[in-house]
Amino acid sequence: MTHDPARPLRRNALRLTLAAAAAAATLLAMAPVQSQTQEPVQPIEAAVVTEPAKVELGKKLWFDPRLSRSGFISCNSCHNLSMGGSDNLKTSIGDKWQKGPINSPTVLNSSLNVAQFWDGRAKDLQEQAGGPIANPGEMAFSHDLAVDMLRSIPQYVTEFKQVFGHDRLSIEEVTAAIAAFEETLVTPNAPFDQWLKGDKTAINAQELRGYELFKGSGCVACHNGPNLGGTSFQKMGLVEPYKTDNPAEGRSAVTGNDAERFNFKVPTLRNVELTYPYFHDGAADTLAQAVDTMGRIQLGREFSAQENADVVAFLKTLTGDQPQMALPILPPSSDKTVRPQPFD
Ligand code: HEC
Ligand code: HEC
Repeated sequence: MTHDPARPLRRNALRLTLAAAAAAATLLAMAPVQSQTQEPVQPIEAAVVTEPAKVELGKKLWFDPRLSRSGFISCNSCHNLSMGGSDNLKTSIGDKWQKGPINSPTVLNSSLNVAQFWDGRAKDLQEQAGGPIANPGEMAFSHDLAVDMLRSIPQYVTEFKQVFGHDRLSIEEVTAAIAAFEETLVTPNAPFDQWLKGDKTAINAQELRGYELFKGSGCVACHNGPNLGGTSFQKMGLVEPYKTDNPAEGRSAVTGNDAERFNFKVPTLRNVELTYPYFHDGAADTLAQAVDTMGRIQLGREFSAQENADVVAFLKTLTGDQPQMALPILPPSSDKTVRPQPFD
């Protein structure tokens, strides 16, 4: 047998070609993943429930209007989970039909935000949850009265003990349970998330054009991350001042730093199709108006009617699976429970 020097070479060449093809295939397979990680927006994932009993208790408290003075207002009154976690009002209605000072932001995906409230004055959901119960313009109760009410209801007492392993039913347990429930209020699986995960048919050509504009014109400088917002405080009216009668000062009210006047937490754009009206003063009724205002005052850009429609179409791809749940049946008041005072 004569040695054919070409053979090993050919074999090597073949091996090389195969290796190159494999590498190319790997690269191709990786390409969508790579471009996805390069996107300024990331998909959100479904909530993983680790403490189901705590979440169930929090859900009851969320829907329980007895945490208000009137016995009529629950968290869900202003963050209606049938309406994108908001009330769809310019500003909320509180105790005694009081006009609220500011637009109610959605609670959906709010666990992803750096801080809570338009000015970020609560560091997390638990700290936030104590606010509305005692706020005279909202639920107008007090923490003590809320705790007394819950302690007067045997089923609640038992449930708190089961969840927390002790008898100290205090406002900390109340707010911890509400926060645990709120952490489950995420909305995965929006068409845009499916697109981010590689399904190129999940959004249509117009929606994709809208996303390219959203990215290319600079909206993503502020509306980025999994929540398309909620990561920073930014000036409302960066390029051109924003005119409003609403007295809210924004971040400076918390920090005392005048340079941060009119800085607000960048709101999430997830489910934005459901959470009208827009802005902290609720002044924009439609997405078209909000996009037009943002283009002009944040970026100095006038969108054409077509461009505006494209961005709006993109924003509507951010509506995810809404939380699905059975309505909780609340334990009845006992003979000892103090009765609500709706009219005085
Ligand atoms: C009367 C209407 C009303 C009620 C009742 C109410 N909220 Fe709110 N909520 C608002 C408004 C208005 C804001 C914005 C206030 C601000 O930023 O200054 C807000 C803000 C929030 C935020 C912050 C979201 C974010 O992204 O910044 C969370 C979370 C929240 N509320 C949860 C709750 C919980 C929990 C309850 C029940 C204990 C509750 N709310 C009851 C109107 C209400
Ligand atoms: C410099 C940061 C910044 C840029 C750039 C920016 N935004 Fe905003 N956006 C904000 C802030 C801050 C708010 C809340 C302002 C307020 O209500 O006072 C907001 C609010 C919104 C809202 C209303 C959301 C709600 O729930 O009220 C929409 C919609 C929106 N932006 C879309 C866009 C679009 C589209 C672009 C690009 C054309 C854009 N934004 C560019 C910071 C920014």
